[in-house]
Amino acid sequence: MTDAILITGGAGYIGSHTARRLLEDNRRVVVLDDLSTGHREVLTFFERIYGPEQFGFENVSLLNPDELAGVFDRHTFSGIIDFAAKSLVGESQEKPRFYFENNVLAFRNLVAASGDIPIVKSSTAATYGEPDSGYIPLGEGYQEHILGAGEFDQCQLMPAAVSFDELLGWYKQDIAEQSPALALGEIDIAHLKIPTNVYGITKVMDERLLVRSGRRFAALRYFNAAGADRSRLIGEDHDPETHLIPIVLQVALGQRPHITVFGDDYDTLDGTAVRDYVSVPELADAHVLCLDKLVSGAESMTYNLGSSKGFSVREIIKAVREVTGHAIPEILGERRSGDPATLIANADQIKKDLGWQVQESLLETIESAWHWHRLHPQGYLVVQEERFNPFWNRWVNVAAHRGNRPWRGETQSMDKGGDIAYEPECYLCPGNTRVTGDVNPNYEGVWSFTNDFSSLVLDAYETEQRNGPYASRTSRGVCEVVVYGPNHSQRLSTLSVNEIANVVDAWADIYARLGEKAEIAYPLIFENRGDVMGNSQPHPHGQVYAYGEIPDLIVKPQLAMFAQYKKEKGGCFVCDANDVEVDDGRRILVNEKDVVAYVPFAAQFPYDVMIMPKRHVASLLELGAEERLGLADALQCVLTGLDGLFDAPYHYTLALLQAPTDGVDYGYHMQIQITSLLRGPGLRKHVVGADIFGNLINPSDPNVTAEELRHAMAEID
Ligand code: UFG
Repeated sequence: MTDAILITGGAGYIGSHTARRLLEDNRRVVVLDDLSTGHREVLTFFERIYGPEQFGFENVSLLNPDELAGVFDRHTFSGIIDFAAKSLVGESQEKPRFYFENNVLAFRNLVAASGDIPIVKSSTAATYGEPDSGYIPLGEGYQEHILGAGEFDQCQLMPAAVSFDELLGWYKQDIAEQSPALALGEIDIAHLKIPTNVYGITKVMDERLLVRSGRRFAALRYFNAAGADRSRLIGEDHDPETHLIPIVLQVALGQRPHITVFGDDYDTLDGTAVRDYVSVPELADAHVLCLDKLVSGAESMTYNLGSSKGFSVREIIKAVREVTGHAIPEILGERRSGDPATLIANADQIKKDLGWQVQESLLETIESAWHWHRLHPQGYLVVQEERFNPFWNRWVNVAAHRGNRPWRGETQSMDKGGDIAYEPECYLCPGNTRVTGDVNPNYEGVWSFTNDFSSLVLDAYETEQRNGPYASRTSRGVCEVVVYGPNHSQRLSTLSVNEIANVVDAWADIYARLGEKAEIAYPLIFENRGDVMGNSQPHPHGQVYAYGEIPDLIVKPQLAMFAQYKKEKGGCFVCDANDVEVDDGRRILVNEKDVVAYVPFAAQFPYDVMIMPKRHVASLLELGAEERLGLADALQCVLTGLDGLFDAPYHYTLALLQAPTDGVDYGYHMQIQITSLLRGPGLRKHVVGADIFGNLINPSDPNVTAEELRHAMAEID
């Protein structure tokens, strides 16, 4: 097993994005976090998506050296990225000891426990204090430069619950006395005089401690981190929120009445403070670049991570108005203590050395933050809510935490599938004799025949009775079996896209042929695959139930709902659901020219997938060859992804829901639905109790199952 990267504070904002970046690169990550401000939900998400091989979590505080030593005993690390820190300037002024302990003592413990493993250390622009405008944009050499010019005899610490000398005393007593090598010299103390707040001083202490330790490190001074991962699944969630962009977005969401502009009398173009905003995925990239450089033997480095561009508070508010389309009421407030007028990075050094530079525009960054906030208005949470599923006309109890409950019941074996192309005992293989005595033809492509045990027949006896509340009617229809091909060892997911397209064509022909019959009102085409779904015949095949009456379970309620929805909203609910899903994006699996596939918002079972033609079409008959090929491609992507996710041939039931063929135009929009009783590899969702008599319970978060599936699909590509 390859060595892992340790990410301390990996449940926090920048830490989680960096962990995600490494995990997406197939690297092993261990997050250490005491969860004092980080989010357990993001770690659960990583656990589900990447699994224990790739991701581990240590719920440990850096303030506990014994527990910390245990982490280093349990894992071997090739590098460390340290985000674990407190970072609120105002709070640091009020609780300096808390900041000293969490930001300096904790870091000293990490340095002591980790031998000579290279460390990437999160630092801050607060280390630059309140620079004169002449020094903007700020280079990494700013401190050395001004100290050389003798500009900092006095410390710049603004009024706080501690004096500068007391802070130095803590360092001396708690760190230097135990490890004399880490004692601060004159030059270190001069650096400590520059920041205006305790937070900034603790970060300078960390930087100086690293220098004294003789260890190879990268100190990365962030300017203003903003935005969110493109997946829209992880993002910024602070409590309390103090940062400008999330606060303005909360105003856009109506969660706050207005934004208070902290001072408009700064020496800037519009009088409001200017900052340099960097997207958090790009910050994550910079960490990984620096780490890899260190791991490959580079010397220590200190870099600014900024865009070299500044935006004022008012410019940010204007940009948020542009992105969100919402009016953002603003009021003017007092300056916030400790806020410098302008902080803009000169980020030339890291560009020159490592080729890293900010690519994303401010509007793109705000847009990604907006998606996160709009889609997660309460931040991280474990979904536990009722969701309406319009496709099934029912409420679903989505209770994601139930997926983690201990399970002592039965588990399902997931057969790996066979490789025998011809099975003499199979009643579907070419040339074999079925139980009726009929001999199968030597078919080469798709072949269908009337089911030997049809539930519905055309020559059924006539009946039409009422008996109190009971009634009976004639059971009329046709049942067929559709064999996808002669090779016994294949399944829909292992056929080529062209072969699947042939199956799609055959489905269309069957629908047309049976739909034409005066007795048939609804040809339902479906497939059951795997024992869990009641099918132990592995030969690739599906079925057709062509009904004399429109069946009750899904199509009939859908027709009523289509009509009602059209009356109320004037459109088609499938088209609208597709639009909602594409706009949301978190559950989209395939989004191609003609086809979209997703795990629906109100999935009833964990791995429900809908595959839809984008065009409003009633059936396959309205789709051209290219659109059918698109559908076949989507089917293959989704089904191979599901096989990959379950590491075995997936067990599912699939249905083509097309318009009735009774001659009425219902304005129907066809769908392919795939569902399964599996809730995880080997784990079956039992449909009992509340699921039968109350509302169905989905024990998973559809956003997460979609991401699991997307991940599996990407592995196959
Ligand atoms: N602001 C407002 N109204 C608000 C919130 C913020 O006007 O409701 C202003 C602030 O006064 C500041 C600017 O928006 O001028 C940006 O404020 P943030 O709180 O978003 O960010 P800061 O620049 O204050 O803080 C960032 C990091 C800190 C770091 C600091 C260095 O988040 O960790 O830069 O100055 F210490």
